[in-house]
Amino acid sequence: MTQDELKKMVGWAALEYIKPDMLVGVGTGSTVAHFIDGLATQKHLIKGAVSSSVASTDKLTALAIPILDSNDVDGIDIYVDGADEFNPDLMMIKGGGAALTREKVIAAMAKQFIAIADKSKQVDILGKFPLPVEVIPMARAYVARQLVRLGGMPEYLQNVVTDNGNVILDVHNLEILDPIELENKINAIAGVVTVGLFANRPADIILLATSAGVKKLTANS
Ligand code: A5P
Repeated sequence: MTQDELKKMVGWAALEYIKPDMLVGVGTGSTVAHFIDGLATQKHLIKGAVSSSVASTDKLTALAIPILDSNDVDGIDIYVDGADEFNPDLMMIKGGGAALTREKVIAAMAKQFIAIADKSKQVDILGKFPLPVEVIPMARAYVARQLVRLGGMPEYLQNVVTDNGNVILDVHNLEILDPIELENKINAIAGVVTVGLFANRPADIILLATSAGVKKLTANS
């Protein structure tokens, strides 16, 4: 199976968790794009979708899936999103598509968080995938220096502006042995909007696409 076939298989497998009247948080990325295609077949059953990016909003709109503003709801039943890397505790690096801040807000609002991923995302220790950090533009150089002090090699993505008008520093060269500690330390740097480490709020379930089918993973399963 190609990687896109694996993404499609797992994107559609997540539909099993979508029940009538649910408010569905929708992530961002190529795996989620398949989930949105599947969600369109159930658009009359759900309460609506809360989107994590302009790209996902555009796709939801094109498929006439009702969208609600996150400020108009007091909770989200289920959140389905992709991952760039995940570890055995279901902690993740996310934000390869620069949507990390809205993704983190939706994860915080959601009762259940289901990540959909293929085998290439599974690691023992997070950090090979560069860790995205969203930063307000005037703090970029200061935050980069602080990230160097934490042992990383930040790279400024010159062609990326987030949906919130900020910039992204991709941090290379990390071996993240204590993801919660690193998430808290980076969040505490002045000028940081969000770090793409989802450790304080990991996924509840990961649906993993393999050539033998979709496996359901829970923490340390
Ligand atoms: C978007 O900002 C990310 O968090 C995505 O969820 C992540 O990059 C996974 O993307 P793919 O499904 O395209 O691999």
